[in-house]
Amino acid sequence: MSQELYIDPKRCQGHARCWSIAPETFGIDEEGFAYVLPGREGAYDEESAQKAIKNCPERAIKVRDV
Ligand code: F3S
Repeated sequence: MSQELYIDPKRCQGHARCWSIAPETFGIDEEGFAYVLPGREGAYDEESAQKAIKNCPERAIKVRDV
């Protein structure tokens, strides 16, 4: 089993802190909401991902087992 980073679209409000902390992992779509860059879901820097998770005011960034 491995882990995958994802954004809960029901929670994301577009604060973009994730993107400013870890632009190599997160993108912002044309509507201003975050997504995990393709190919990065299971290949992200743990430290910056955890920092982004802690800094999202909506708690929209999550890790799940896959
Ligand atoms: Fe959304 Fe949180 Fe990033 S609200 S844009 S996931 S900082």
